[in-house]
Amino acid sequence: MTTSSSSAAEKNFKKELGRKFLIFFVISVLCGFFFYFNNRDNNQYILKTLESNGSAREGDAIFKTNCVGCHGITARGLVGPDLHSLTRRMNDKEIIKQVTEGLTPPMPSFEIDPKNMSHLLKYLHTLE
Ligand code: HEC
Repeated sequence: MTTSSSSAAEKNFKKELGRKFLIFFVISVLCGFFFYFNNRDNNQYILKTLESNGSAREGDAIFKTNCVGCHGITARGLVGPDLHSLTRRMNDKEIIKQVTEGLTPPMPSFEIDPKNMSHLLKYLHTLE
């Protein structure tokens, strides 16, 4: 009697454990997919940006409409930092991430297509 009830409890416990493991497994797989696709999209975005040949003049216009409020009309800094000689501090990939992912809270993330991002990047390279 005691043995059978304890083994039933044991079975229940194992079933419960199995279910928890299954849930854990499914969540892990979903997270894996999420990170994989997210990363792949990001990399494609960066590749597309670096492949296109931006124009500094277009980039200047994009900067004037989106960034001057915080970085100043001459990019000498206001709320945000001075962006001159930025390209000596950050590489292109880091700059793209800074703009599109909003890694630092006061600065918003921008939804900008790769072509315009390449213009912006070209402009930032002129700020030596
Ligand atoms: C709402 C204000 C705001 C706007 C708009 C804004 N930024 Fe910023 N940006 C900041 C702040 C604040 C920082 C500094 C964040 C930090 O260092 O934690 C920053 C940091 C940066 C950096 C990193 C600089 C460094 O030296 O680390 C880059 C590059 C940058 N911004 C580019 C841009 C570009 C390009 C735009 C326009 C598309 C833009 N920002 C629009 C506020 C802004």
